[in-house]
Amino acid sequence: MEVFSAFLLLSFVLYLFWKTGRSKQLPPGPRPLPLIGNLLQFNLHNPLKDFDKLAQKYGPLFSLQMGGTRFVFVHGFSLAKEVLVTKGTEFAGRPLNPTIEVLTKRKGVISAPYGQAWKEQRRFSLTVLRNFGLGKKSVEEKILDEASYLMQNFEERMQEPFDPFCFVDNAVTNIISVLLFGKRFVHEDNSLRNILDVVHENMKLAAGFWAKLYDAVPLVRGLPLPHQKIFNNMKKVFAFFSEELEEHRATLVPGEPRDYVDAYLEEIQKSEDKGSSFEEEGLMIIIADLFVGGAETTSSTLLWALLYMMVFPDIQEKCHEELDAVLGSNPCIKYEDRDRLPYTNAVIHEVQRFANVVPLGVPHAPIKDVQLLGYTIPKDTTVVTNLISVHRDESQWKYPLEFNPSNFLNEKGEFVKPEAFLPFSAGPRVCLGMNLARMELFLFFTSILRKFQVAWPDESKAPDLTPQFGITQSPAPFKVALKCRWQT
Ligand code: HEM
Repeated sequence: MEVFSAFLLLSFVLYLFWKTGRSKQLPPGPRPLPLIGNLLQFNLHNPLKDFDKLAQKYGPLFSLQMGGTRFVFVHGFSLAKEVLVTKGTEFAGRPLNPTIEVLTKRKGVISAPYGQAWKEQRRFSLTVLRNFGLGKKSVEEKILDEASYLMQNFEERMQEPFDPFCFVDNAVTNIISVLLFGKRFVHEDNSLRNILDVVHENMKLAAGFWAKLYDAVPLVRGLPLPHQKIFNNMKKVFAFFSEELEEHRATLVPGEPRDYVDAYLEEIQKSEDKGSSFEEEGLMIIIADLFVGGAETTSSTLLWALLYMMVFPDIQEKCHEELDAVLGSNPCIKYEDRDRLPYTNAVIHEVQRFANVVPLGVPHAPIKDVQLLGYTIPKDTTVVTNLISVHRDESQWKYPLEFNPSNFLNEKGEFVKPEAFLPFSAGPRVCLGMNLARMELFLFFTSILRKFQVAWPDESKAPDLTPQFGITQSPAPFKVALKCRWQT
């Protein structure tokens, strides 16, 4: 009897190995274990180095099995371009991901499947964000207003080194808030701070071990494990947005939209009964998309910029010289000035290339079976474009592994943007807030450097440049010492 049981068990294990073995049509990768796949074969807390090793072993296209889900990884510029641009529409879907499914019900823009609803929501958001437009001030003026509040906050804290995180984060979030809700939050307002804290926490949790486990193993989903925190956090965020929606609904004047929420509420009314994708639950999700997609990405980039300026004072000095030479004592900065500031512009781009704030992009999925490098990638497979590998691709960059603004300058010192610069990804799913983010980065960065010299305050230890891994990569908390360059 025991022999029979052992035989049955052995057969079952062999069956599982056979079931989980990889198909010849799929890209290569390490052999998955039964049930858990490759889940324990790399560092789930920060898998980036493991992905590099796998690319070295298996080539630019490899696959991994995480529990029941198959992931295909795309490494290097040439293949990323094929996926994002050349075959962009075929890869423009989003994978079915249980965590995201619970959080968004696949509405909004970021996690919406490719199709009519996604197109409508994306087009509407782009138009409304571009046209602001709504209200009396342009987006540029709104950013400059917020930059002046940020300068004020910085100036008040010049006596001793301080952590710039909250101030930068608030300034950037206020831009989204002004565009969406028509209002900014003062730095001391804890309601926004609390929400930002849970949003940041979720950006780390959603890329971490417990979310992976939740996605991979259905049995654990109802258990009181740390993944529940992600869903509880999101409830708090939605409750905060709900209050804003209530206020807007109560004060909306038809035909006079004040901000994105007003414009969306009007769109809901206009398209009622037409089976359109505009409805209130969708509005909540899209607000979350724009908040989550637009705040942490941009504020982390600015924090990296401050950190790199402290680490490379000679580069900061060159920016100061250029800003002084081109703008003189004129206190106003305009977005169009970037054409006259090639070095400073190159530094901002180099910060984005080097910091890799969204290291693995947002996962894509083929909308039908697609051929890639001779392999068949089945419809709905999770496809991860490794954007760090694009930004370190030796065939594309003069100085792939060092922080060097010359990556964006030609021999004449003119600004050039290599095709492999993809912090916002590319193709049909390219970042919806790209133009807004670029304007913010330029105006905030130049405002800070015009007014201040930033210095590393702690002689006893060097700055820590190790990123905190998550869907976005932010620097570890740090302090900055500011010296005023001139009074405005
Ligand atoms: C430095 C700042 C930013 C970076 C590095 C960044 C990066 C990205 C990346 C890599 C993607 C994935 C694109 C893909 O699927 O291939 C993305 C998508 C997206 N981003 Fe950004 N982003 C930034 C700022 C913003 C801002 C300011 C907003 C909104 C106001 C925003 C809203 C979105 C949305 C809605 C999507 C989803 C687009 C879609 O699925 O069609 N992002 N972003």
